[in-house]
Amino acid sequence: MKRFILLIALLLLTACAGSAVPRTPSALDDALRQVITAEALTGDPSLGRELPAIDDPLAQLGKQLFFTKALSGDMDVACASCHHPLLAGGDGLSVGVGIGAVEPDLLGPGRARSDSLANVPRNAPTTFNIGLWDEAMFWDGRVESLGKTAGLNGSDDQGICTPDEHYPDPDPLAGRDLVSAQSRFPVTSQDEMRGKLEQHKPNWVVRDHLLGRLGNYGAGAGELATNGWLAEFHKAFDLCASVEELISDENVSAAIGAYQRSQVFVDSSWRAYVQGDLGAIDDAAKRGALLFYKNAAEGGADCAACHSGDFFTDEQYYVLAVPQVGPGKDDGTYRDDDYGRFRVSGEPADMYAFRTPTLLNVAATGPYGHDGAYATLEGIVRQHLDPAAAVAAYDAAQLNPTVQTEHMAYNTARALAKLEENRSLGLPAIEPMTLTDAQIADLVAFMETLTDPCVTDPACLAPWVPGADDPDPDGLRLNASMPSLE
Ligand code: HEC
Ligand code: HEC
Repeated sequence: MKRFILLIALLLLTACAGSAVPRTPSALDDALRQVITAEALTGDPSLGRELPAIDDPLAQLGKQLFFTKALSGDMDVACASCHHPLLAGGDGLSVGVGIGAVEPDLLGPGRARSDSLANVPRNAPTTFNIGLWDEAMFWDGRVESLGKTAGLNGSDDQGICTPDEHYPDPDPLAGRDLVSAQSRFPVTSQDEMRGKLEQHKPNWVVRDHLLGRLGNYGAGAGELATNGWLAEFHKAFDLCASVEELISDENVSAAIGAYQRSQVFVDSSWRAYVQGDLGAIDDAAKRGALLFYKNAAEGGADCAACHSGDFFTDEQYYVLAVPQVGPGKDDGTYRDDDYGRFRVSGEPADMYAFRTPTLLNVAATGPYGHDGAYATLEGIVRQHLDPAAAVAAYDAAQLNPTVQTEHMAYNTARALAKLEENRSLGLPAIEPMTLTDAQIADLVAFMETLTDPCVTDPACLAPWVPGADDPDPDGLRLNASMPSLE
């Protein structure tokens, strides 16, 4: 009996040690707490934002639209083909494949094109946490907020400029927020979704055709063998309106926007640490965090100069001279270069500059860089530390063999020269620095704490993926097969 009581007492003690006993902060913890206070971090970039929940009827309609191949010209690509929740809101590829895939429903590394045409020009960023961007969408920011008025959370009431209007004029049809505005463009991009639909016609003609396809009116009437979209729109918009008013550009983009904006995944171990759980991350990650936040004078790597705040981005544009792989954006001598932000702003300093990415969930969202040139976090970190050396040492074997590299050396040398020029002009630029292998490993360990466990857990992601209980209004839902996850 005595032994039994002892056992119970012991069990209780160990159970308590796991949770309740507060840790004493180490010197590392103290140093980090100073940084956290100085940077005014809360750990939660979604604080104070009104973002829709996935069970919101508008987000539910958006989920169905996001997964239907009916929004692509040839009915073979959905938004989810390149932004699947089970691939952390991306496609797991350096530069992805839209139209013309050998197996349209195959996602991940085996996805390839059936013809000799190119992949899409850039890496597909994650749609996770997309509602946390304030300034702009895309690597070059070509869908850009012209300003919010304080207090009007989430509404870009000064307007949004898009590629449909001359930069920087507001696009009167952009919609209610950046994410909704963005969603109107993949369908008009030839390689992503448009395919052979309404070739050489203006964007609005393509959109009108697709809306008519969903609503069974106009140019798209009769194109769907089964069509239950009207009933689905009625569930989300409690309106007594004509089908043209209901299945409209504005309502489709609002629904797709709401679905994506409901993808809030910010519950990382770093957040737990910032909010006071000293045991949430290990010492390597803590050392990495210190390096990340301290500037060069303090012996740090100054990553937060650009990857700032709880969302880990200043939403500004910089030249990193990441090796230029893939088909590019029709720029330069060989038409396979990518001038980045310069394409939008026309400012010489923006040549080869790309938007600072967020680092939330970054361990799950590779490959890295605007064209996915790097397969690993270590690779892209080394690119920051010494771009010229990293470019010289770059190993294209980390790319899928279908990714073009013909003029990589030529184009990347031009980007490196631009970086040097911006530095010599005193413009904001990445500063060369030397870190030990152990320090780089610590930085990577820190970035690995920025993952919300939900994003690698299919059960947790289930609400964002249509299942057997969800309607499939046109029978064209993407039922993705992802051999890389099996
Ligand atoms: C063929 C692959 C592909 C398809 C299909 C696709 N996208 Fe994308 N998406 C991309 C790529 C590549 C980019 C980056 C392009 C750039 O920055 O120039 C991108 C960018 C985005 C962004 C901006 C992300 C950011 O961080 O700024 C959002 C949001 C997005 N896509 C949503 C959608 C939606 C909604 C659809 C369907 C209507 C869709 N995508 C269809 C590949 C795709
Ligand atoms: C001068 C601004 C700046 C600084 C400082 C900076 N970054 Fe970046 N970072 C960028 C930009 C811009 C990109 C995208 C570049 C591109 O693709 O062309 C990027 C890309 C990344 C990526 C790839 C993310 C993705 O989704 O593709 C990671 C990881 C990253 N940075 C980590 C770091 C770390 C760690 C440090 C500190 C050692 C750091 N950055 C310092 C601007 C910066």
